[in-house]
Amino acid sequence: MVWCWTCCCTTLKFTRVSFSRATSPGASLPAGSLVTSFIEASARFPGGTLKTSCGGCTEGASAEAPGATHFRLSRPLGAAHGRCMDSSDTNAAQIAYWNEAAGQTWVDLQDDLDRQIEPLGRAVLEALAPKAGERVLDIGCGCGQSTLTLGDLVGASGSVLGADISKPMLALARARSGGAPQVSYIEADAQTFDFPPAGVDAIHSRFGVMFFENPTAAFTNLRRALRPGGRLAFLCWRDISENPIMTLPMQAAARHLPPAEPPAPGAPGPFAFADPERVRAILTDAGFAEIALARQDMLGGGNTLESALGLALRVGPLGRMLREYPDAGPAALADIRAALAAHLVDGRVRLPSATWIVTARNP
Ligand SMILES: C[S@@+](CC[C@H](N)C(=O)[O-])C[C@H]1O[C@@H](n2cnc3c(N)ncnc32)[C@H](O)[C@@H]1O
Repeated sequence: MVWCWTCCCTTLKFTRVSFSRATSPGASLPAGSLVTSFIEASARFPGGTLKTSCGGCTEGASAEAPGATHFRLSRPLGAAHGRCMDSSDTNAAQIAYWNEAAGQTWVDLQDDLDRQIEPLGRAVLEALAPKAGERVLDIGCGCGQSTLTLGDLVGASGSVLGADISKPMLALARARSGGAPQVSYIEADAQTFDFPPAGVDAIHSRFGVMFFENPTAAFTNLRRALRPGGRLAFLCWRDISENPIMTLPMQAAARHLPPAEPPAPGAPGPFAFADPERVRAILTDAGFAEIALARQDMLGGGNTLESALGLALRVGPLGRMLREYPDAGPAALADIRAALAAHLVDGRVRLPSATWIVTARNP
């Protein structure tokens, strides 16, 4: 945990801190050393209490807090000064989620998931329109399907970096990308990672940006990675009520399960960006311009009944519930199968989906 000793918030928003003073017994860096990340700082001061200032209070960083190790931000990151953040700003819950049950599930079901999601993502790739030779960042790249497609679009003279927090998904992405030297991956939290400033021409994401605890900080961080004039395009879900593709299995199984707690509006998760005004506000606060949200309504899916059933039991709102109440699965199976079978078109399950294609530009 890192505390801002000036305004008493906890923050992991800094990406580069310069060492200014050490009074704690564990401190060993010479004055003036650069500590480039919280992880590095933690490693250098095991068990120590690190204190830093958030982006909003760099000015006050000359005060002293006896017994603590002080850091001064070398540049402000536009953090909301005075907002008292808790440890959830670390995205710790999502990092655990995508490295445990969810990550391995996505690896196991990668073919069926790609079949279901790829058609939804095409319009985002079209909106981003990557050109040969461009440098692209793919946020929340997961098992790498969109990263590989971006690699084809930018060609051998370009480069694509897929960033994700999930070790198992990144391992599969790397294994799939051996033949494309312009494609690489990094384990990185998009909200806090210190991407090289102005290092890419475009940022893409297919359902990978709705999980940030602090979306404004995340998009501020991502905008810094874009060159001036660089483009952002991502795909996110619209309201849950417009997405039978996500809700039908859950509704079919409902009588076998306790009532599900609806997520708080805007809470990190698939539907965090359902509200277009919220998305506009976040991107505006993060410094983006030319923000546009286009509605996309499609029949999604495309898997056989058995594959769709396999996905329904392990992914999405029902998958989450069944991880908590596994005994309900066998009891609900017939109901879920019948509900999906009612949507078979030419041997494939197809259900309405509603998404936003969001585009913006770094001015
Ligand atoms: C719904 S999955 C989408 C995966 C992939 N884009 C696809 O379309 O198949 C969401 C992805 O976002 C990643 N993710 C969540 N929070 C993240 C963060 N803070 N930084 C980077 N990736 C994140 C997850 O690990 C996961 O791979």
